[in-house]
Amino acid sequence: MHILGIETSCDETAAAVVDDGNRLRSNVVASQLATHYRYGGVVPEIASREHLRAIVPVIRQALVEAGLTYRELDAVAVTQGPGLVGSLLVGLTFAKGLTFSLGIPLIAVNHIEGHIHAVFLEEKQRGGDIELPALALVVSGGHSHLFLVERSAEEEGLCRYRLLGKTRDDAAGEAFDKVAKLLGFGYPGGPLIDKLAPYGDPSKVTLPFSRMKGNPLDLSFSGLKTAVLRYVRASDMEEEISHRKRLFVEGCPAALEPILDVTPQGTRDLIAAFQAMVIEELMRRARKAAEGVDVRSLIVAGGVAANSGLRKAFAANPLPVYFPTLGLSTDNAAMIAAAAFPRLQQRLFAPDTIAAKPSLVLA
Ligand code: KG4
Ligand code: ZN
Repeated sequence: MHILGIETSCDETAAAVVDDGNRLRSNVVASQLATHYRYGGVVPEIASREHLRAIVPVIRQALVEAGLTYRELDAVAVTQGPGLVGSLLVGLTFAKGLTFSLGIPLIAVNHIEGHIHAVFLEEKQRGGDIELPALALVVSGGHSHLFLVERSAEEEGLCRYRLLGKTRDDAAGEAFDKVAKLLGFGYPGGPLIDKLAPYGDPSKVTLPFSRMKGNPLDLSFSGLKTAVLRYVRASDMEEEISHRKRLFVEGCPAALEPILDVTPQGTRDLIAAFQAMVIEELMRRARKAAEGVDVRSLIVAGGVAANSGLRKAFAANPLPVYFPTLGLSTDNAAMIAAAAFPRLQQRLFAPDTIAAKPSLVLA
C-alpha cells in the first residue's frame, strides 16, 4: 500500500511516500526557515503563502523520488492538527482535492501522533518492533507532552494514547528558541544551543528547577527562561549581545568559529547550564512517569529529540530508548504517512467534511 503523506502544520512543507507503514520510499521537506528568519520566528500569514507556493513541487518531487505516479497511490494522509490554521488548511485542502480526483481514501493524522510514528517507522525499517506499552516524550517547538502508548484493544494495529503530563507554559523547543533569541542568536535556537553547549561548563551557572503544584508529570520551562533573562540583565551583557545580533542578522553562519568568537566563556557556561536544566527537567518527568506505570520502552520524538545532549542523557536509561534519526525528528511527512497505515487497514477514512483543527489533542 503506497501512502502519500502531506504535512503543513507549521513552517515546513513536506511530502513523503511510505509503503505499508514500514518502508520509506521518499521524504521531501521544503523549509521556510530563510523566509521567517528575519522576523525571529514563524509568521503565520507568510507560512500559509509559502505552503501554497511549495506544495505542488514538493508533492511532485516526493512522487518522483518514490518512482510512483499519482495513479499508483492507495491513499493520502494529511496532518489535521494541531498547528497553524492557515498552514494546516493548505495541506488539508490539497489532500482533499487530490483524493477526490483520484478516488482514493483520505486519512487524517494528528501531528503529535505522527512524531511518535516516526520512531515506529524507523524501528520497523530496521526489522525490529517497539515493545508496548511505551512512554513517549514528544518535545518540539509547539509541544512538550508525556504519553503512555498502548495497543488499542478495539482496533487492531492502532495505538491508544494516555496523556500523563504536558508543559504548563512554554514547549521545550520554544524555550530553546526564546533563550537563544534573548542572547542575540538567530532562529531557531535549539540547534545552535546544542552546538555551543559542549563548549561551556554547566556547573559554573546555577539555574533553578521548575517548582509546581499539581500533576508531578507536568513540565515547565518559563521559570528557567526567566532565570536566564535575570542572569543576562545582572551580567551587563548588552554589548556582546548586540555584537552577536550583527553577526546573525542575515542568517546563522555555517561555521562554528565565528559564533564561538562572539560568545565569551561566561555565555558558553550559561548556555551549557540552560541546556543541562532542560534535559534534567525532561529526564526527571520521564523517570517519574515510568515509576507509576508498567512500560517496556521509552520513545523520545519531536524537534528537540535532535538534541545531542538529550540523546546522550537518555541513552543511559535502564529502559530501551528510541529516538528518530535527525531527519525524522523535526517536522516531516513520512511520520504522517506511517501513522496513517493502521487507519488505512481499519478503513478509518476522513469524511469529506473534515476540517483543520489547530488545537487538536491526542488522547
Ligand atoms: O518538531 P519541530 O520541527 O516542529 C514542531 O512541531 O514544533 O520542532 C522544532 C523545534 C524548534 O523549537 C527547534 O529549536 C527545536 O525543535 N530543535 C532543537 C534541536 N533541533 C531542533 N532543540 C534542541 N536541540 C536541537 N538539536
Ligand atoms: Zn512537530
